[in-house]
Amino acid sequence: AVMADPPEAQFQKLHIDQPDLPDCFPALNPLDAYRIHISNTLSELSDVQPKTIYLALQRTSILDKGDLLLPVPALRIKGEQPNVLATRWADQFPESTLVSKPIVDGSFLQFHFKPSALVKKVIPAILQNRTGWGSNPLLGLKDVKDPSKGRKRVVVEFSSPNIAKPFHQGHLRSTIIGGFLSNLYEAAGWDVVRLNYLGDWGKQYGLLALGYKMHGDDKALEADPIHHLYEIYVKINTLLAEERKEIEQLEKEGKDATKIRNEGLDEQARKYFKAMCDNDPEAISMWKKFRELSIQRYKEAYKRLNIRFDEYAGESLVQEASMQNAQDQLGNKGLVEESQGAAIVDFSKHVDGKAGKALGKALIRKTDGTSLYLTRDVGALFERNDHYKFDQMIYVVATDQELHLKQLFKLVELTGHDDLRSRISHVSFGLVLGMSTRRGTVVFLDDVLRDVGEKMHEVMRKNEVKYAQVADPVKTADILGISSVMVQDMSGKRINNYRFNMDTMTSFEGDTGPYLQYSHARLNSILIKAGLPASDIESANLDLLSEPHAVNVVRLIATFPDTFLNSLKTREPTTILTYLWRLTHAINSSYDVLQVVGSEREVMKARVALYDAAKSVINNGMRLLGLTPLDRM
Ligand code: ARG
Repeated sequence: AVMADPPEAQFQKLHIDQPDLPDCFPALNPLDAYRIHISNTLSELSDVQPKTIYLALQRTSILDKGDLLLPVPALRIKGEQPNVLATRWADQFPESTLVSKPIVDGSFLQFHFKPSALVKKVIPAILQNRTGWGSNPLLGLKDVKDPSKGRKRVVVEFSSPNIAKPFHQGHLRSTIIGGFLSNLYEAAGWDVVRLNYLGDWGKQYGLLALGYKMHGDDKALEADPIHHLYEIYVKINTLLAEERKEIEQLEKEGKDATKIRNEGLDEQARKYFKAMCDNDPEAISMWKKFRELSIQRYKEAYKRLNIRFDEYAGESLVQEASMQNAQDQLGNKGLVEESQGAAIVDFSKHVDGKAGKALGKALIRKTDGTSLYLTRDVGALFERNDHYKFDQMIYVVATDQELHLKQLFKLVELTGHDDLRSRISHVSFGLVLGMSTRRGTVVFLDDVLRDVGEKMHEVMRKNEVKYAQVADPVKTADILGISSVMVQDMSGKRINNYRFNMDTMTSFEGDTGPYLQYSHARLNSILIKAGLPASDIESANLDLLSEPHAVNVVRLIATFPDTFLNSLKTREPTTILTYLWRLTHAINSSYDVLQVVGSEREVMKARVALYDAAKSVINNGMRLLGLTPLDRM
């Protein structure tokens, strides 16, 4: 009876029986519909539970291996050889309108989707849903069966640069990866809070304020706060270094350095910071101004990267009471000890073995009562937990702060907040090597973006004919430049280091940002040239898409919702990017075979529908990554 149903009816049936399977959404993810079909069919002839089969089915890495793969050993059937089972099941598996007879590959079964049903399921679904296709807003529901229970909330803390200091490679990566994760969770229906936790507190900022009193210029500050504050920061740190040398020299010669110790810059900075901590109005108002002006500037750069924040938090905003509360909790558990007037936690005494040793000792309070980076992080975490009531919080921070975050998480655990501990995680990433700008090796985000924009402009100028057709070359070059940087950053696994290479990243050849943009823009220009009305595209006879090139493109676009889900698991931008490379390669090699202009009209309609759907998928993938897809370039 199943065989007699037309494919639409079969899919319909699969949708209605909303199965009790994890992350299974046959109405949104075509692969899920096939998984259900295959596991039900195979269950009937194998006596294995459909759910067991469903969970064992895998995606394939290359289309030659089929669309879904069943590793028979994963079913853990006793007594029979997996390859024998595979052969028997393949023989008995009834061919349907949805899938061909499976192919045996050792102890694997390969399932190949039948083109006709697949094409008619996938292309119309994309053309109807467009920007929403691939994502799944149901994933963020607290309870899929009862949407009235609301959505889950995730706080993504990312970027978090330090005022008056360079926006270095670590901040750039945090910004790119954090922006991506925020988009991803949003597309998965979560309520996302984008949080920027500025480095804006500590003794160095007492020093900066002193420096401003000596060398500051209000006009220069207004005009370019980031660079002006940095200048002052460098100057005052040079003076401080000299002071330290002087003390060292005096003490070496057996002379008295008490006067400098008591009245020098270092001590003044400490006092100034103490005044900031004690809410001294003058110290605070100056501080607020630095902060506000810097944030304004950051916002401009973030905007170019398609990033916005819901909140600019910062170390300076953590309440003394929350830090005290954290310290009290640690004290009550007997974790805090005094060491030369300061409060410390010695992890090796509370955590066994190597792990405890690796965590070492952490300073919680200085002798003068001021807080530290770690103390502020614990306080901030408790505040966020109360304020946002998040289901998840993600810290997007470079791997060189691994120890710091491990200490933070351990403190949460040691104070008995196991539930809170289970809701926080560290998404870490490696270094960018050799990042410098034309102005020097100290990096500011603005300078990097300007440099790559200029470089892209040079690259574009080399093709005079094309260049003449671009409406706004400067803007286009800017977007291409940003895409270059971002794509290079997201290409590998997060944890890998990579070398910042302006020439490679701005090339149109290889898997680069410009290549991705080109692939998108080329599809767009094909659609424009064809100039078909929407009604023609929607009513196209999709059975005309029978060439292997066309079918393979459809097979790939069909897997986008699954890739989306997978990227939520890996939290890796490269999961999306690797997918986009497969897809763009398949599309770019299909143009010679699947011509549009000049083809017979019905064929043309079907191909336009295919390219239109493919363009939507690339567009959705690019926007998830935080890129701005270009229609022309
Ligand atoms: N501002 C810090 C830095 O630049 C990064 C902050 C990371 N986040 C945190 N919660 N500690 O090193």
